[in-house]
Amino acid sequence: MACPENMFFLIGLFMSGVLACFGQRDLFATIPDRLDVLTGSCIQIPCSFDIPDQHKDTFNSTIRTTGVWIKENPDFGLHPDNVIFNSSETVNRFQGKITGNMSQKNCTTVFFNVTTNYTRYFFRIESQPFRATDTGKSVDIVVMAFPSSPIITVSGEVKEGTPVSLNCSAVAPCPEHPPELTWTLPTQFTTENQLQENPDQTKSVLSTVTFTPSYLHHEQNITCTAVYPVGASNKRAEHNMMLNVSFSPKDTSASISPADPALMGSCVNLTCNSTSNPPVTNFTWFKISEGKPAQVASGLSYTLNVTVGDGGLYFCEARNSHGRGKSKEVWLTIKGQEETVTTMVFGIAAGTLGVLLLISLISVIGWRRNSRLHDGLERTDNPQGQNSPVNTVCANQATAGEEPEEPAENQSEEIQYGDIDFSKLRPKETPAAAQDRVQGQESEYAEVNVTGRRDKVQHLNNLDGLYAQVNK
Ligand SMILES: *[C@@H]1O[C@H](CO)[C@@H](O)[C@H](O)[C@H]1NC(C)=O
Ligand SMILES: *[C@@H]1O[C@H](CO)[C@@H](O)[C@H](O)[C@H]1NC(C)=O
Ligand SMILES: *[C@@H]1O[C@H](CO)[C@@H](O)[C@H](O)[C@H]1NC(C)=O
Ligand SMILES: *[C@@H]1O[C@H](CO)[C@@H](O)[C@H](O)[C@H]1NC(C)=O
Ligand SMILES: *[C@@H]1O[C@H](CO)[C@@H](O)[C@H](O)[C@H]1NC(C)=O
Ligand SMILES: *[C@@H]1O[C@H](CO)[C@@H](O)[C@H](O)[C@H]1NC(C)=O
Ligand SMILES: *[C@@H]1O[C@H](CO)[C@@H](O)[C@H](O)[C@H]1NC(C)=O
Ligand SMILES: *[C@@H]1O[C@H](CO)[C@@H](O)[C@H](O)[C@H]1NC(C)=O
Ligand SMILES: *[C@@H]1O[C@H](CO)[C@@H](O)[C@H](O)[C@H]1NC(C)=O
Ligand SMILES: *[C@@H]1O[C@H](CO)[C@@H](O)[C@H](O)[C@H]1NC(C)=O
Ligand SMILES: *[C@@H]1O[C@H](CO)[C@@H](O)[C@H](O)[C@H]1NC(C)=O
Ligand SMILES: *[C@@H]1O[C@H](CO)[C@@H](O)[C@H](O)[C@H]1NC(C)=O
Repeated sequence: MACPENMFFLIGLFMSGVLACFGQRDLFATIPDRLDVLTGSCIQIPCSFDIPDQHKDTFNSTIRTTGVWIKENPDFGLHPDNVIFNSSETVNRFQGKITGNMSQKNCTTVFFNVTTNYTRYFFRIESQPFRATDTGKSVDIVVMAFPSSPIITVSGEVKEGTPVSLNCSAVAPCPEHPPELTWTLPTQFTTENQLQENPDQTKSVLSTVTFTPSYLHHEQNITCTAVYPVGASNKRAEHNMMLNVSFSPKDTSASISPADPALMGSCVNLTCNSTSNPPVTNFTWFKISEGKPAQVASGLSYTLNVTVGDGGLYFCEARNSHGRGKSKEVWLTIKGQEETVTTMVFGIAAGTLGVLLLISLISVIGWRRNSRLHDGLERTDNPQGQNSPVNTVCANQATAGEEPEEPAENQSEEIQYGDIDFSKLRPKETPAAAQDRVQGQESEYAEVNVTGRRDKVQHLNNLDGLYAQVNK
């Protein structure tokens, strides 16, 4: 019939290739290419057959039809032992039965206790007068010592607060004893199990679990376990999966560093912390002014060179594609303004006075430092700074503390000592403040030596004491 011209060439190569040639098959069996079976378990071979047109007249379906399974080589004449199952026989090499209705051309067969590994099996029918073997199609039955893992599938994104369904599917080669599927989840759930038919007519057990994920379940494991009954014992296989729950920013908090009340002219770092999936794309800083939040900056951290108006309530907001998280409000207290925060009545009068004093003191220090240090300090540190002019010094101090550079150290040492001459400030000092003069001078030394971070902290503490006393 419609055989290729090189048929004779093919004969030399593949016997089955020729036999599979269209028109040469005397029987069409529809069976899977391959089936995996647990050793000692049963296997159901989905099977149906059809009679080619040229034999339709010889086949009479009302006559009892025998089903035969032949292993390895369909030519059982030479190898009679290859006939492993004959539905007309009571004793066979393979225990089994044809469960399909042969009158309806359903040759579905179940073999019990399969132990022979990795062999091709061919199907044959014997009727009156029609008999034929499908030599062009066979099924490989692979015997496995352990079941294969079930498969978990997730459709779409797992989002916090949105119920999600996951499927777990496990093959059921022996549908009479299907595997039992169980889930392990970090939360409450409901499941629904059913036996499903795959496109190749084999069976699977499908378990669908439904639960509502929370952000606490992110990166938690879920497990689907399949337990296969084999004889008197069980064999298990499982699939582990880490949940990837997407959620809006959580645990958002704002922190101020250093935590102590800030000195005017000093650097204060406000940092926002948050966890989210996917990561935060945008941090925004707000200050409460006149009772309303006003945006003051964006970015993970907000560094301020403190001025009079900077004291107050701040909070940050973190945002990702799923939403936003707001931190609690934090107080940025300014040294000398603390009282206005706690005792409002006294604060306004005393605070204003204190602030004025502070401003004059700081402007003197600032002016003097600027005029004297400008050349040495700023030029030395500028190569590392790419920040805005206002925060140039703030940013540089942090950087310099982390990466000490020899030239900067040496240069600053030259100018450090005796830079601030507190004797010139004395006219403005209160007697109490004057007592701290010596200490203040020491700390000024430390402050100018910008590479010493710990000294800087000490300096701030010392000056804090100084200003506190100025205010009293
Ligand atoms: C099929 O066989 C039955 C008897 O077994 C017979 O009565 C019937 O005529 C046959 N059909 C055909 C088409 O040969
Ligand atoms: C199947 O068994 C029947 C009845 O014993 C026998 O006639 C037939 O030859 C057997 N078929 C094969 C392929 O062995
Ligand atoms: C064939 O028989 C099997 C076993 O009885 C049954 O599960 C299957 O649905 C039948 N197939 C068809 C196509 O009827
Ligand atoms: C098999 O199919 C035939 C024809 O459809 C029907 O008459 C017979 O009762 C069926 N046998 C069984 C066991 O279901
Ligand atoms: C399965 O077959 C093995 C060896 O072929 C035998 O030892 C075992 O008893 C059989 N089990 C059952 C349940 O028939
Ligand atoms: C059966 O054969 C396959 C392929 O060679 C192998 O992977 C598998 O481990 C074998 N099974 C047993 C139980 O020996
Ligand atoms: C789970 O399986 C059902 C039935 O096959 C299907 O409709 C659904 O889309 C599947 N869901 C997932 C998450 O794979
Ligand atoms: C999740 O599963 C992996 C792999 O099985 C394991 O290494 C990890 O410890 C598990 N994590 C948790 C939180 O149980
Ligand atoms: C988890 O989900 C997020 C958002 O859908 C995605 O960006 C990320 O790549 C996922 N991570 C993993 C490990 O799959
Ligand atoms: C703060 O800004 C003032 C004026 O721009 C500057 O003189 C001072 O050095 C800065 N202080 C710090 C610690 O950066
Ligand atoms: C972050 O959000 C603020 C407020 O909507 C906006 O002004 C700013 O441009 C955003 N920044 C980025 C990097 O998206
Ligand atoms: C502020 O804090 C953040 C986070 O701790 C840090 O990365 C940044 O360098 C700090 N900035 C300054 C100027 O100290």
